[in-house]
Amino acid sequence: MKTSDYNKVALTFINKLEGYKTFFKNLHWSANHLTAHRLIDDILSDLIEFQDTIAECSQGYMGVQFSLGDIKPKYINFSNTNDGLVALMKDVDDFCDTIESDKELRGITNAVNDYQQELLKYKYLVMLSRKDGVVNSVINLKQ
Ligand SMILES: [Fe+2]
Repeated sequence: MKTSDYNKVALTFINKLEGYKTFFKNLHWSANHLTAHRLIDDILSDLIEFQDTIAECSQGYMGVQFSLGDIKPKYINFSNTNDGLVALMKDVDDFCDTIESDKELRGITNAVNDYQQELLKYKYLVMLSRKDGVVNSVINLKQ
């Protein structure tokens, strides 16, 4: 993939992740159950670290820096944690599908694969929380 093409792909993805950060921060601060508050905090921490890895590795791969103002969060809104997590997993999978055939992007693909593994763990933990009636019942983002 040409680096100019990758720049667009990476920034689109990073801006989506920026939107998910705000989405999960809203859920974290509006949770009225400690379990949900803490679980979403863990999801958010890993997301922040993953986005930082993608942004910095992408600039290393391209050999050029993003420009000031390139980060423009995409608005992300779902009514609950589970739906947001499922959508995030789909966006991460789509990014992986776009880059994984490029051998020069192996390092970034590897970071994406590691994060996909983490997301599966969170899917399980959110599922458990929903069984407890925690995440499902107390978290709702207003439109
Ligand atoms: Fe916090």
